[in-house]
Amino acid sequence: MAEFTLPKNSKIKSGKIFSEANGATRKKKFHIYRWEPDSGKNPRLDVYELNLDNFGPMILDAIIYIKNEIDSTLTFRRSCREGICGSCSMNIGGTNTLACTKSIASFDGDISIYPLPHMPVVKDLVPDLSNFYKQYASIKPWMQTETPAPENSERIQSKNDREKLDGLYECILCACCSTSCPSYWWNSKRYLGPAILLQAYRWIVDSRDKSTNKRLDKLEDSFSLYRCHTIMNCTNACPKGLNPAKAIAEIKKLLLSRIS
Ligand code: SF4
Ligand code: SF4
Ligand code: FES
Repeated sequence: MAEFTLPKNSKIKSGKIFSEANGATRKKKFHIYRWEPDSGKNPRLDVYELNLDNFGPMILDAIIYIKNEIDSTLTFRRSCREGICGSCSMNIGGTNTLACTKSIASFDGDISIYPLPHMPVVKDLVPDLSNFYKQYASIKPWMQTETPAPENSERIQSKNDREKLDGLYECILCACCSTSCPSYWWNSKRYLGPAILLQAYRWIVDSRDKSTNKRLDKLEDSFSLYRCHTIMNCTNACPKGLNPAKAIAEIKKLLLSRIS
């Protein structure tokens, strides 16, 4: 019989409460998902009530402050603090985004922070992105050419061809879009999802790449590409303002143009 409730060991329990904001004029409560796989215990939500004068304005500043000053066991990824590396993506206030570019002031009231949804969790706010990276490798994200590189110059593109990469090359592979996509939630083993398809399109439209047809062939099955139903969650989620849904639509158009 189908089970419609969460297994007992995945239910999120109430966790610890930390408060350092007594007497603070600017304070905020952060509800943060915690899960320690080695403990054998259920995940929990810890609550940290913080004095906002103690750290910088971004969500990542708050999380780093908690790790440094309150609870060193809190686990998360981050590197650049500039919205460039894509490693601090998480679900903040119900939306997938980057902790380093999301300001605390953009939220009224308490802020809840979870790992990216529908991914296995390694620990606390760290999702397991192995399948995501495997899918990225599957699209061969490098330039494939048929001739040796010119000796004394780069491979030249026209200005017009170069412009076709705008809105694509900026993708930082944060996975905010893919983990917002209902189709990807249910079919992530076989559907590539918006991030990887945007990256695939980035190579398909690169005038210097000579494997366009092979790349399109690889996407032409019922799952890799066509599980996209244009729900647009991906585009709404992208913290870099990119439009993966449009890239997917462009791939579909190219596939159609090959048969018409
Ligand atoms: S437009 Fe496609 S890829 Fe984007 S969220 Fe919807 S189904 Fe997923
Ligand atoms: S398209 Fe946007 S949301 Fe998706 S992986 Fe790239 S930067 Fe992140
Ligand atoms: S820390 Fe690099 S994108 Fe946030």
